[in-house]
Parts: sequence; structure tokens; C-alpha cells
Amino acid sequence: MGNIVLLDDLTINQIAAGEVIERPANVVKELVENAIDAGSTTITVEIKQGGKSLIKVIDNGKGILREDIPNAIERHATSKIKSVEDLEKTYTMGFRGEALASIASISRLTIISKTEQEELGFKVVTEAGDIIEAEEVGAKVGTTMLVENLFFNTPVRYKFLKQDATEFKFIKDWMQKVALANLNIAFKLINDGKQVFQSNGNGNIRDLIYVLYGKDTSENLIDVDYKEENIHITGVIGNTLMARESRKDQIIFLNKRNIRNQVLTSSADQAFKGGGTGIGKFGFFILNLEMPADFYDINVHPTKMEVRFKNESEIYRVFYHAIKSSILSKDFLGNNEQEEKKKDYVENEFKFLTSHFGRENNNPINRIYGVNSNKKDDLKEGEKRTVTLENENATSQDGQELIKRENQRKVDYVYKGILFRTYIVVEIGDEIYLIDQHAAHERLLYEKIRANYKSNIKTNSQMMLVPEVYDLTHKEIEFVKNNIELFKNIGFDIELFGENSVKINGIPDIDYRVNSKNVFLDTLDEMITNERSTSKDVEERFIATVACKAAVKANMDLTPQEVDNLIQNLLTLKNPYTCPHGRPTTIKFSKDEISKRIN
Ligand SMILES: Nc1ncnc2c1ncn2[C@@H]1O[C@H](COP(=O)(O)OP(=O)(O)OP(=O)(O)O)[C@@H](O)[C@H]1O
Ligand SMILES: [Mg+2]
Repeated sequence: MGNIVLLDDLTINQIAAGEVIERPANVVKELVENAIDAGSTTITVEIKQGGKSLIKVIDNGKGILREDIPNAIERHATSKIKSVEDLEKTYTMGFRGEALASIASISRLTIISKTEQEELGFKVVTEAGDIIEAEEVGAKVGTTMLVENLFFNTPVRYKFLKQDATEFKFIKDWMQKVALANLNIAFKLINDGKQVFQSNGNGNIRDLIYVLYGKDTSENLIDVDYKEENIHITGVIGNTLMARESRKDQIIFLNKRNIRNQVLTSSADQAFKGGGTGIGKFGFFILNLEMPADFYDINVHPTKMEVRFKNESEIYRVFYHAIKSSILSKDFLGNNEQEEKKKDYVENEFKFLTSHFGRENNNPINRIYGVNSNKKDDLKEGEKRTVTLENENATSQDGQELIKRENQRKVDYVYKGILFRTYIVVEIGDEIYLIDQHAAHERLLYEKIRANYKSNIKTNSQMMLVPEVYDLTHKEIEFVKNNIELFKNIGFDIELFGENSVKINGIPDIDYRVNSKNVFLDTLDEMITNERSTSKDVEERFIATVACKAAVKANMDLTPQEVDNLIQNLLTLKNPYTCPHGRPTTIKFSKDEISKRIN
């Protein structure tokens, strides 16, 4: 009895199926993963013409039994699982039993293989999936797969291939990743007869990084080796010098499989924030997460690049800790913090950060940030405070000067309380100001969002702890599709998700006093209800709408600290007295006016 068996119909139907071979790099991936699954310690890949004419993968794994070879190229035939439940304890790269069948059907595939128990090897040649040759051959234990004339019978796919050099680049990028994940396998990559790189399989990631990225990079890395119960995270992160413009050098492996995952990316962003990287830059990391296979579901997409973690927030937390602990390590900071103290610190900081995510406004942290970071005592009614203003003159809409400002003029104000849970009363000199808390906050947020928008930094979002998926109406989805750049520029990390859903991974990085989840839906609703034409107009209106939806509402109780921050922030604006819609944020009465009306 052979080892490769056909999956039953029920199992077939439960497995994320689909074509995964779009380009030569996909073939290389599938063949190399099979070689890894076969327990190989050396894997050599030879490429010709970007993989279009030849892809050859030679391994020293356990080989395929002669009787199994025809099964290997059968669809849904695999030696790796018997049922979907097996996935909960399966660590192999493959499990669908589809890859070889797909490759065989669109190329000329030659398989030469020998197992330990067989005297001789066996060679099978297939064309478009049909066996055209089969014979005994002399061979070492292991398997050689030869793919020639890829896409010869699928001209459309062939037509979409890029130049050889570009196709080879995809192959090389992927080979480097697979070598970084499998440090105990010696890989060799040869292109048109020339060796491109080689790894020695000695298990040392730094040696390999030296080979792939060079000396500078290898000298600016910090080791990560973090363990918590069943999760073990290892690899390297780059120090501040290694911060990058893109996420290209953020490589994640899950049980050695290269994956993309927003939960982990967001977690890393948070961990790097404020220490690891500058604004708008991305941390460098190559990390493998080792955990029991039943912690996640890999059966999401046929390329197996996506996973669903069963406990996302736990994974988020552990990944955050792994990176942050290394950022705080003595290698990174050059000082000797005590291990225990560091742990507490990371834990506290994590709690602080996560308490910001999408929660309701009932937590004690101030959401309306202060002008300066010095923590002050709570503002008390009747208390006099001072704010320092910049050297510009503030004018109201009708051009009338409201406050004369000289260089760094100081303005004394006295907080008098809040009327109707909505209007903050402030006395400045001989005048009384009534500040509408919603309009004022909206105005501040507008400034901030607009500045973010104009700065063109595409990373002004705060990642959500757990991405949200929303089902939208046809009209809404159309609007999102047509204006996706608008959402992105403003700080929504958003993706279309299936036919009529969107996935929100991040929201504009501003201080929320409302349920931040609703900001997206409320904004969308408002934009659709009042659609207009020109794009400039849409931009402005969009910024204003997000500000409006994210701002504190009337009748919301603010903390004394928030009230003070609001007053100070507002007074320092160039033109604080109207909200983005042109309505006033503030009205004032002078003592004279009042006395005239009373007398
Ligand atoms: N290099 C190899 N060495 C040993 N056995 C192999 C090798 N390549 C393929 N096989 C055998 O052929 C079978 C079919 O391979 P194929 O890649 O089509 O499916 P799979 O790896 O099981 O699943 P997936 O489609 O997810 O890759 C494997 O299950 C394995 O038993
Ligand atoms: Mg496979």
C-alpha cells in the first residue's frame, strides 16, 4: 500500500481549493515545500529563463515510492492528511494534495525519485498531466522534480508573465525567505548556470542574514528569543538604524511558513512605536512563531499565506512582548535594565496601549491630549491658568481681531464651569467665552487630520487590536471602491474584503472620545447622504466629516483634564473661532455688553 491516498469528497470540499500557480515562483514554492515536507537537509533549485523554460528542484528527502508516483500527480491525493481534523496537528507545508497535479497539468513534469527501501529509482515523465514515459533509473535517495515549458498549454497565463529577470526576482525573494525560515536546511539557488546564493544549514540566522543582506544589516540586529507557555518566538529585529520606508523587511513565519497577518503587523507597529522607528517608518524584523497547530486555521486560502488565529488578542500580546522586550534589551539600548523590571514595564505599556483601542469612552485615560506633556493637576472651577500663544494674530471670519498676539504672548484664562454639559465657560480679561465642546474638539481634530492628510504619510493610522469586517450595501461599497485612496490617505487602513465587505485594520491616528469603530460607518453614511462632485470638495468634506464624527458630542461628560486640554489647544489655534463647517466654536460677551443689556 502506498502512502499517498485520495482524500474523500467531504474532506475535499472542506479544503480551501483553487489555482495557486500563476508564475514560476509559485512552482518553485510548491516544489521546495514538498522537499521540506520530505525531511530534506539539502535542497538545490536551478532556474532557466526566469523559470519559463526550466525549474529543477533536487532534494535528499525520503523520496516517493514507485507505486505512489502516479498518485502524487493526482488531484486531492496527499500523504499528509486524511481529514480536515488532521490539520489541527499537522505541521507540514502541504496538505491539499493539489500542487503537483496543478503543475503537471500545465507543463512537462519529470519526477525522479528513490526511497530508502527501494533498490533503484524511478522516473516518470508527464505532459499536460498524462504519463508519457516511466522507467527505472539509478538514483540517490531523494527526489528531483523537473518542470519544463511551463504554461505551454495555457497561453493566457504565459502572456501575463514578466521578463525573465523579474520572474527570477520573485523566485529569489521567495527562496531567501524559505532559507531564513528553515535554517537547518542547506539551500542553493542557481540561475542560468550561475549560483545566486547558498545557505549552509547551520541553524544560525545571523550567518544567513550576513549572506543575504550584508555586513551592515547583520551588525544592526537584536536577537529575539521569547517564550510564553506554548508560543515561542525567535529571530531578529533591526535597531533604529534599520527602520525602513516600507514593510518589505517585515517577514513573519508561523511554524516556518511565511504568512501575512494584520494582527501581527499591527502588534509589531505598536511595539516599534516610540522607540524602535521614526514616524512613518517601519521596523525591520524576521521572526518565526512556533505554536501548536490548533492555535490557528491555515485552511483559509489555497496559497496558505493567510491564517486565522483562534485567540487574536493573545497572539497580538505575545508578539508585542517579544518585540518590545528586545527593543528594551541591553543590546538595543545599551543599558542593563533588570529583566523583571523590564517585564513589568512591557506589560504596563501594553495595557496602556490596548486600552486605547476601539473602547468606549469610559476609561480613565484622557483622549483629548494636552498642548504640552507636563502633567498638571486637575482644573478646578474658578482657577486661573495661562496659555502661551504663538506670534500670529487670530482673526474671526469677518476679519475682526479677537486676541492681539505679540510674540509668545501669554493669555490668562479662568475656567468657570460647564453649562448644560456642553458649553465650557472661560473668562479672559473682560470677556466671557462660551466654547461648544463638540465644535471645539471637531475643530482641533480637523486640524490634525488635515495635517496628517497633507503630510502624505500613509501610516497615520492606529491599528485596531482586532480588525473589523463590515458588510456594506451596494452603494456604500461603490463609494469605498471609488474613494479608497481618500480613506487610506486619511489614515484608514482598509481593504476590500470579498464582494460586499470591507476590512478595517486601522483608523486615523487621532484622539477619540467616541466609539472609534463607529467613525468609519458614520463617515461613510454622511458622505453618501450628501454626495457632491469635484474631488477637491470631496477631500475637504471627507476630512471635516471624519473630524465631526470622531469628536466629543454635546452632553458628554469630560474630565477636568480634558476640558483644560481642549481650552488650551483651542486657544493656540490660528483661527479657533469657527468649526470646519463655518459654525462658531465659541461665542463671547464682553462685560460691557452684559452691563448694557442689564442696565
Ligand atoms: N519532493 C518530494 N519528496 C517526497 N514526496 C513528495 C515530494 N513531492 C511530492 N511528494 C508527495 O506527493 C504528494 C503530492 O504532492 P502535492 O504537493 O501535490 O500535495 P501536498 O504537498 O500533499 O499538498 P499541497 O497541494 O498543499 O502542496 C505529497 O503528499 C507527497 O506525499
Ligand atoms: Mg505540496
